[in-house]
Amino acid sequence: MHRLLQSARVAIPGALLGLSLLGLQGCGDSAQAPSTGKAPATTASNAAPAAASDTLASRGRSVYNANCVACHNPNPAEPGAIAPAIQGSSETLLEAKVLHNTYPPGYTPKRDTNAMIALPNLAKQIPALAAYLK
Ligand code: HEC
Repeated sequence: MHRLLQSARVAIPGALLGLSLLGLQGCGDSAQAPSTGKAPATTASNAAPAAASDTLASRGRSVYNANCVACHNPNPAEPGAIAPAIQGSSETLLEAKVLHNTYPPGYTPKRDTNAMIALPNLAKQIPALAAYLK
């Protein structure tokens, strides 16, 4: 009886090792996921839990925290230090304002200042920003 138990204990780790080796091989192909072209800016954001960090909106939140809160409020629904609330901004508005510092045709700006700077390096992040600000 005792012996049987002992050999079972030895056998199990062996089986697990085999499984994990199989697993590693299985992942080999997908390991080289295309890089996301994410901005090198260190995500100083205290951040989203790992599980959510891949969603568009949570990426948008990191982009927002890293690039917008110097002027806009960390809560996009509130006015910030020098810039208006921008919760609900459309993707079209974000693209115009963030990438080119302009507005879509016919859009009435919330402020008539021209204090924002264009951030064209964020071109790839507009959909994420829009998802976050929705
Ligand atoms: C240097 C300060 C500054 C930074 C950084 C900044 N903004 Fe702005 N933003 C402003 C100011 C000020 C305005 C008001 C219009 C103006 O003066 O250009 C504005 C206006 C806007 C508007 C137009 C609001 C409206 O409906 O009229 C949007 C959209 C916007 N910002 C988005 C962003 C996003 C997204 C980021 C980060 C990627 C960002 N801004 C970063 C200062 C800034």
